[in-house]
Amino acid sequence: MSDMGDMKDMKDMKEIPVVDVNIGEKEYEAVLKVLKSRYLIEGKNAREFEQKFAAFTGTEFVSSVMNGTCALHLALSALDIGPGDEVITTPFTFIASSNSIMFNGGIPIFVDVDPHTFNIDPQKIEAAITDKTKAIMPVHILGNPCDMKLIQEIATKHDLKIIEDCAQAHDARIGGTHVGNFGDIGAFSFYGTKNLVGGEGGAVVTNSEELHEKIQSLKNHGRNPKGGYNHFQVGYNYRTTDMSAAIMNVQMDRATEILARRHRNGELYRKLFAEQEFLQLQSILPEHQISDYILAPVINDSKILPSEIITYLKSNHISSRTIYSILSYEQPAYQNIDQYLMARVVDYPDYCNVHCPNAEYIARHHFELPMVSSLTDDQIQYVFDTVMAYFQGS
Ligand SMILES: Cc1ncc(COP(=O)(O)O)c(C=O)c1O
Repeated sequence: MSDMGDMKDMKDMKEIPVVDVNIGEKEYEAVLKVLKSRYLIEGKNAREFEQKFAAFTGTEFVSSVMNGTCALHLALSALDIGPGDEVITTPFTFIASSNSIMFNGGIPIFVDVDPHTFNIDPQKIEAAITDKTKAIMPVHILGNPCDMKLIQEIATKHDLKIIEDCAQAHDARIGGTHVGNFGDIGAFSFYGTKNLVGGEGGAVVTNSEELHEKIQSLKNHGRNPKGGYNHFQVGYNYRTTDMSAAIMNVQMDRATEILARRHRNGELYRKLFAEQEFLQLQSILPEHQISDYILAPVINDSKILPSEIITYLKSNHISSRTIYSILSYEQPAYQNIDQYLMARVVDYPDYCNVHCPNAEYIARHHFELPMVSSLTDDQIQYVFDTVMAYFQGS
């Protein structure tokens, strides 16, 4: 498809980005309309977005919130996860997953990942369950749906709640059902680099009316969802703005177009990488559809450093980086957990003693390749050819 001539042309182009926000005139106009209306607070646009996102995910109830971290915190709060409660999760994720557990004094218990899917290994969950375990937080990492069937079975057997971290998982589905429907509550992010964006932005989804009402109240200082100055519980201000909601609202109208391009990119990459032996892409379970948010191959040869490949790619005008090269329990904040204010009332484990070998291998040996919706097929071919040229030493 792409010969050396094409590759030379590519080199004359700008660096192929790993982050490229897919917004345009419709989003600009929508924000301007909100500004001109002078109604900047969460309102009409947020309500419209919620309806569209409910239809898109097939979930009954949606609450728009300021960001994905608020969404996770609300989910945990609505499920009464409090001081000393253990929540089982993965260390190979953005720190928000486990930080949100910490906010209410919950204790993140890290379970190793499956080396092929990069997601929490369901076979290892039961060994981590204690009488303090209250919930499991599977994270659909890089948009790859976790093995929810097994996780649901474990949760049912041990009477545990499930909070799905769907921050990276727009249009990730299992047997056609969108993620966020397999747990008690799902949390989404519309951060400015995600498949669908709002600048900052988030959504909490659930099929339980009772939980939805709790979330609606908690996100707005414990008010009756209809407003007013009666506060029935201690809550937060996790409302969004109608500027962010306006962007999310337009993104929902354009979701099919934006996501189709992402899926096409993912399929092309998977086809190209299928026949080589140097790198391992995330494996996707049967019936599972990945969101094609981030492509982060893992290097099979442990002696090859991601930094060398990243430098090589950059010298060939391809942007690349590592993402979670420091696992959540390895972060200084967790290694020094006694300095966290909740450690005054909660007995945290010594995270210095936690080890998840599969996650540690992935963390040290991955690099990210461009996956953005603006990519052309030729650019994908060029990225693949360049990566192969590195490994084949040509
Ligand atoms: C896996 C994961 N969980 C949670 C979050 C938090 O989302 P936000 O940045 O919108 O607070 C992110 C996002 O960026 C994420 O990638």
